[in-house]
Amino acid sequence: MSLKEKLDPVKIPQHIAIIMDGNGRWAKGKGMFRMFGHQTGVSTVRTITEACAEIGVKYLTLYAFSTENWNRPALEVRALMELLVDTMRKELPTLMKNNIRLSFIGNHQDLPEKCQKQLLLTMEETKNNTRMDLVLALSYSAKWDMVQAIQKIAADAAAGTLAPLAINDKVIDKYLSTHWMPHPELLIRTSGEQRISNFLLWEIAYSELYFTEKLWPDFTKEDLFQAIFDYQNRERRFGKISEQLSN
Ligand code: IPE
Ligand code: IPE
Ligand code: MG
Repeated sequence: MSLKEKLDPVKIPQHIAIIMDGNGRWAKGKGMFRMFGHQTGVSTVRTITEACAEIGVKYLTLYAFSTENWNRPALEVRALMELLVDTMRKELPTLMKNNIRLSFIGNHQDLPEKCQKQLLLTMEETKNNTRMDLVLALSYSAKWDMVQAIQKIAADAAAGTLAPLAINDKVIDKYLSTHWMPHPELLIRTSGEQRISNFLLWEIAYSELYFTEKLWPDFTKEDLFQAIFDYQNRERRFGKISEQLSN
């Protein structure tokens, strides 16, 4: 029986978030430039996106470029932005064929103009697709999102449209850039690093975390199914005790 067949179709996570890490080390290990790793990582994005759509995942959020990644060497940043524009253009027919909508979270204004335009265009072209949302986190960090949310909350409170005592976790959810999707049930990070690196801090409060040694360019469909299988075999107690869950 393949791993895919072993998955429980009623327990497929609605939302999977992935920290795609290890492109640079993968390339270095082969004596190649880091960019070769990023280019190969694009194929993994395609494979994993298709696999998620195939099994009925509704939201796939990929950490593609963090706020902190702006501090990388300028040459790598520029090449990554070009790769992004190029990939969005080339992958449009596949997104359309697979009925996948492209969405975005992050600080739009920081992206180069060409990248902003391609992103808007791809989002516009795919906006009526319904099978799955592929969400790119670009120039994104959880703290950036929290700061912009708190600024808006403070402005609304000052304007008198939001009472301070009415602020609760549901209200905060609404001000975050992820307000339109459910929180991820499963967060995967490749490359053996066991940290969150400023990704979805609020939204992963109760996510199951899955770390794998595999570098992103080597991550396969089977690896994804393994992560989901592992997730399905965990007991999510949300603070309760086991006996309460069977009822
Ligand atoms: C992840 O791979 C992709 C981005 C952050 C853009 P890295 O580029 O971080 O690869 P490593 O971690 O250096 O191997
Ligand atoms: C996190 O990876 C960001 C992305 C995958 C886009 P990094 O490689 O930038 O994170 P650190 O530096 O290992 O924390
Ligand atoms: Mg890295």
